Amino acid sequence: MATLVHLAFLAVLQQGLPIVPERASSVAKQIDYLYYFLTGVTLFFSALIFSLVFYFAVRYRQRHPDERPQPIHGSLGLELLWSAIPLGLTMVMFFWGAHLFYIVRTPPSDATQLYVVGKQWMWKIQHPEGQREINALHVPVGRPVKLTMTSEDVIHSFYIPAFRIKMDVLPGRYTELWFTATKAGTYHLFCAEYCGAKHSGMTGWVTVLEPADYEAWLSGAPAGESLEQAGARLFRQHNCHTCHEAGPTSRGPSLQEILGKQVRLASGETVVVDEGYLRESILQPNAKVVAGYESVMPTYQGQISEEGILQLIAYLKSLTRAERKAQP
Ligand code: CUA
Repeated sequence: MATLVHLAFLAVLQQGLPIVPERASSVAKQIDYLYYFLTGVTLFFSALIFSLVFYFAVRYRQRHPDERPQPIHGSLGLELLWSAIPLGLTMVMFFWGAHLFYIVRTPPSDATQLYVVGKQWMWKIQHPEGQREINALHVPVGRPVKLTMTSEDVIHSFYIPAFRIKMDVLPGRYTELWFTATKAGTYHLFCAEYCGAKHSGMTGWVTVLEPADYEAWLSGAPAGESLEQAGARLFRQHNCHTCHEAGPTSRGPSLQEILGKQVRLASGETVVVDEGYLRESILQPNAKVVAGYESVMPTYQGQISEEGILQLIAYLKSLTRAERKAQP
């Protein structure tokens, strides 16, 4: 019997409970362990407290109508014990949880960058090579993938249970999610934030492919132009270059090598140029004007879609990368 329980316990640790989804990402097992720990502690103390309530109710019941209990004047040992044990347990939960949180929120720098736009009621995904998917996501095994996500309308939430990751997708800003898939297969993709009548239908499939199959999929899927090329086309089409590529006398700041850089604003503040800042500057150019420039840029609100903005960002990122490569 003891061996059976032991074996069952080992099986749960290795493969997970039969009722929970498969584990298919690099963090899935660690997140399960933390979850089992939290559940285990909760069950243990619930059982302990309920048993004691019943035991004491019987053990110390009133036996005679005139019975009076002995008053208790406190116990330092007991006070210390029931402060120290919960403190220790909650600290374990805190540091363990914070450690995992840090891992889940820190994408590796070599991650493949994909872009996700949520809208009522579908997921639109763009690959750097130009492939686009709706309610489907193809990724290779063993390679970190970073998703930069935004919404065209309301709040959605991108959720892949088998990867144990979930992140809200918000209108008006970018959120990030990353994972390394560890097992080829097909896994559910859900929207985990109620977003209207067809929220429950906002689902899809994540297909994890072996590297060779992934290459085959990439070359088989119609790509057209890459994200960078699409961004470059939009850049020309909207005449961004007339102000941003005209040299030192130009009306707008140069966009070469800007991502990740700190810039000083006309207001005296400094901001780090990230995807969110670029997006804001395209849609609300006067919100954060770079020092030394007039606020003359028109807004592109309503003229460029969220997907178009992501293409522009991919193009601006390529300007930064190209510069870095050129340097020795
Ligand atoms: Cu989108 Cu729920």
